[in-house]
Amino acid sequence: MKTGEYRDEHNNTALLESDIDRPVKFQGNGNIVRVGKNVILKATIDIRGDNNTVTIGEWSVIDGYIGFIRVNDACVDIGHHTTIGGGSSIQLHETSHVHIGADCMISSSVLITVSDMHPIFDEITGNRINPGAAVSLADHVWVGYRSYVGRGASVGAGSVIGAQSVVSGTIPPKVTAAGVPARVIREGIRWERNFPSGDRIML
Ligand SMILES: CC(C)(COP(=O)(O)OP(=O)(O)OC[C@H]1O[C@@H](n2cnc3c(N)ncnc32)[C@H](O)[C@@H]1OP(=O)(O)O)[C@@H](O)C(=O)NCCC(=O)NCCS
Repeated sequence: MKTGEYRDEHNNTALLESDIDRPVKFQGNGNIVRVGKNVILKATIDIRGDNNTVTIGEWSVIDGYIGFIRVNDACVDIGHHTTIGGGSSIQLHETSHVHIGADCMISSSVLITVSDMHPIFDEITGNRINPGAAVSLADHVWVGYRSYVGRGASVGAGSVIGAQSVVSGTIPPKVTAAGVPARVIREGIRWERNFPSGDRIML
C-alpha cells in the first residue's frame, strides 16, 4: 500500500505516512491503523473485530504479525525507532493494550500476547484465573530471541530480556532478566544496538 489515507465502507481507516509492503487486513468496523514516516513495515496486520487501533512510530522496522483475533476496543502502540524481527507476533485475543516504547529491539520469533487465548477457571468459585492484561515494554527494551512476553508483563526502560525467556510479571529498568520465569540476573546495565566499530546491526 502506498503512502496515503484509506477508508473503507466499514469505516476502517489506514493513515499511512510510509509505503507498506503488505495490505492491512480488516474484518470489522471502525478500526484504525496509523503508520508514521520512514517506517519499514513487513508485518501482516490482521484485525478481526471493531474499534481496534494500531500505531507505529516513525523510523520503526516491523516484521512478523500483529493480530487482533475476534476482539474489540484493543490497542497496539509501538514507539519510534523500534525494530521487531521476523517470525515475531503481537497477539490480542482479549480487549487490552500492548505498549512497546521507542527504540526497543524485539528479536525474532518473540511472542507478545495479552491473553492465554483460552480461559482457565477455579473449579470451586468459577472465577476466571487468567484474565487478559496489558503488556508494557518501556523505551529501549531488548527482548531476546524466542521469548514469550505474556499477559500483565511489564519491562522497565533500558532492560534486556535473555533469549527464550518467559516474562509474565514486572521487570525493573536497567537490568538483564532471563529464564523461565524471567528473573533478574544482572543489575545496572546499559545496552546499545550498535557495536563500537560503528557497524549498524538492525535486529
Ligand atoms: C542474557 C544474555 C544477554 C547474557 O547476559 P549476561 O549478563 O552476560 O549473563 P551471563 O551469561 O553472565 O549469565 C548469568 C546467568 O544467567 C543465565 N542465563 C543467561 N542467559 C540466559 C537465558 N537466556 N535464559 C536463562 N538463563 C540465562 C546463565 O546461565 C547464568 O546462570 P548462572 O549464574 O546460574 O551460571 C544472553 O545469555 C542472552 O540471552 N542473549 C540473547 C541475545 C539474543 O537473543 N540475541 C538475538 C538478536 S536480537
